Amino acid sequence: MSALKKILFSSIGKKYIMAISGFGLIGFLVTHVAGNLTLLSGNPDHINAYAAGLKTTLGPLFYPAEFALVGLFLLHIFLAIYINVVEKKAARPDRYRKPQKGKGGPSKFGIAGSNMIITGGLLGFFVVLHVWQIRLSSEFGSKYTTMLNGKEVADIYRYCVELFASPLTTAFYVGVMVFLGIHLRHGFWSAIQSLGAMKPEWSKAIYGLGLVIAIVLATAFLILPIYMHFDLASKLFAGSH
Ligand code: HEM
Repeated sequence: MSALKKILFSSIGKKYIMAISGFGLIGFLVTHVAGNLTLLSGNPDHINAYAAGLKTTLGPLFYPAEFALVGLFLLHIFLAIYINVVEKKAARPDRYRKPQKGKGGPSKFGIAGSNMIITGGLLGFFVVLHVWQIRLSSEFGSKYTTMLNGKEVADIYRYCVELFASPLTTAFYVGVMVFLGIHLRHGFWSAIQSLGAMKPEWSKAIYGLGLVIAIVLATAFLILPIYMHFDLASKLFAGSH
């Protein structure tokens, strides 16, 4: 077996890939929220130009990049299930005995760790629904289009307006963003640990950094459905467009 294969098939190798794919997904979320924040201007041209600009800038690399993103999500989900369900089950000597609680009850990280599969599962469900609601609907349905610099492009702004007109969808998105924050808070900490970059004296600082990343990202995403639902742009920028 080659050295690379050995790493990939070892338990620690899978944790490494899980951590790296997690960082990759955080990178995607940062660029995604940055693009989405253009919704705040209330000017449809901004988000539409951003979405259309991605396609023209990446050119022939756009669809391969999307497939790579899907691959990254799938790799992360597959490894999460493999490490937490398949390997843990195989490692438990008595498969039918429930894990015992420690004397002092489960630790703070223990609770967050077992929540990862629940918050991750919810996020996985959300991403499939979300991509179908906006990305796939705009790619294949072309229900809403608009003219931008003389070219017909998908009216992504309109898709968002329609989506967040519903109080139920808005509440669902806001709720999921809270779970995203919980997932990121523990995921960041856990990824640093898996990469072996955690020193006991850094533990508090890394936990704090994970918390800041989680709060900033979840809040930046969370304000968008609320902002759109209550049409705050027209209240804030009345008469300016
Ligand atoms: C409430 C917050 C969010 C809003 C308003 C939002 C909005 C959007 C919009 C407008 C698009 C279409 C962009 C385009 O066509 O170029 C999109 C695509 C997408 N979103 Fe979100 N999003 C949110 C949160 C999230 C979260 C938390 C995730 C992941 C955990 C996510 C994952 C994706 C993915 C994977 C795509 C498809 C990207 C592509 O294929 O180019 N979104 N989102």
